Amino acid sequence: MSTRAAGLQPFLVMEVLERAQELERQGRPIIHLEVGEPDFATPRAVCEAAHAALDAGLTHYTHSMGTLRLREAIAARYARLHGVEISPDRVLVTGGSSLAMLYAFGAMVEPGDEVIAATPHYPCYPNFIRFFGGRMVEVPSDPHDGYRLDPDAVRSAITPRTRLILLNSPSNPTGAVLEPDRMRALCELGLPIVSDEIYHGLTYGEPATTALRFRPDAVVVDGFSKRYAMTGWRLGYLIAPSFMMRTFQTMQQNLFISPNAFVQEAAMAALEEGDDDTARMRETYGRRRDLMVGLFRELGFAIPAMPQGAFYVLADASRYTDDSLAFAFELLECANVAVAPGVDFGEAARRAIRLCYAASDDAIREAANRVREYLACRG
Ligand SMILES: Cc1ncc(COP(=O)(O)O)c(C=O)c1O
Repeated sequence: MSTRAAGLQPFLVMEVLERAQELERQGRPIIHLEVGEPDFATPRAVCEAAHAALDAGLTHYTHSMGTLRLREAIAARYARLHGVEISPDRVLVTGGSSLAMLYAFGAMVEPGDEVIAATPHYPCYPNFIRFFGGRMVEVPSDPHDGYRLDPDAVRSAITPRTRLILLNSPSNPTGAVLEPDRMRALCELGLPIVSDEIYHGLTYGEPATTALRFRPDAVVVDGFSKRYAMTGWRLGYLIAPSFMMRTFQTMQQNLFISPNAFVQEAAMAALEEGDDDTARMRETYGRRRDLMVGLFRELGFAIPAMPQGAFYVLADASRYTDDSLAFAFELLECANVAVAPGVDFGEAARRAIRLCYAASDDAIREAANRVREYLACRG
């Protein structure tokens, strides 16, 4: 194996999920709060559009950048929601935002480069960056400031090797949302910006701000997985300055050829008709967030700030453990509750667990009961 591939770290959340599935095969009734995906079905209009596309024979390659119709619809969404004008030529449709990230870091990171990002962070970021020989420089976000990245702390972390700043608002795993002034301050630090906006649409106060508002040359990665409950459809996109697009197009032609044809039709339906579904899901998530935060605070988990977006609660478990990985497996094996170990999201979250509230009210209540009972007999 190449050292590059062998150096990748496992995605621990997936390891917990895979063990949970093994226990389920043995008949154990596991409650899943570990994986970050909506529990809602994909909106009907989206599924119908996919069926219609299959019936119409849209089962072949498309333009490597994605269909012009879809790129126009994505561009139109930015104009409508954020007042930013982008040409469809600056949009590349990809197999999930994960692939968009692979292209972005692949095109921008040289061996030895540093990428500044907040921690706790999405587990895959340092792995993507390391894969291209770079290093992620983690700037701790303060729980008592809602885990929002501090522009002054980022400024202090800049070195001559800093290649770019990576933003993620709303954030996985903290639910932090950068307010416009802070987003502007981060964008004005003068370094290239990559902004992962996959949780846009899932905020419980003010809507999230795109980095493109303050930095027309930001590289934005986003997709359909989270706000339209389309994780399994694998469709995302990348928006970048014009001068980068030919390189991204060449990467896609070589590495992926084109995004999936009929899923692009389904994505059109999501953009045209899916926002009411997103609004309904958001309302439900908001209620579940309050329920989960209340119940787990009662159990002694410290949750310093109410998450403002995405669908996660990062709960400090230091009253019970200083090893979140062992604790996550303990809860799984002994209480039949699957949670994500905080350490997956960086050392700063070593004593935390991440709970996903894309689960029913009953599942959240039952999970809290099981954890309560287990912790009571564990002592
Ligand atoms: C912050 C963040 N970015 C990107 C992704 C990848 O999403 P996808 O590849 O499904 O678009 C995830 C998935 O959990 C995520 O949490």
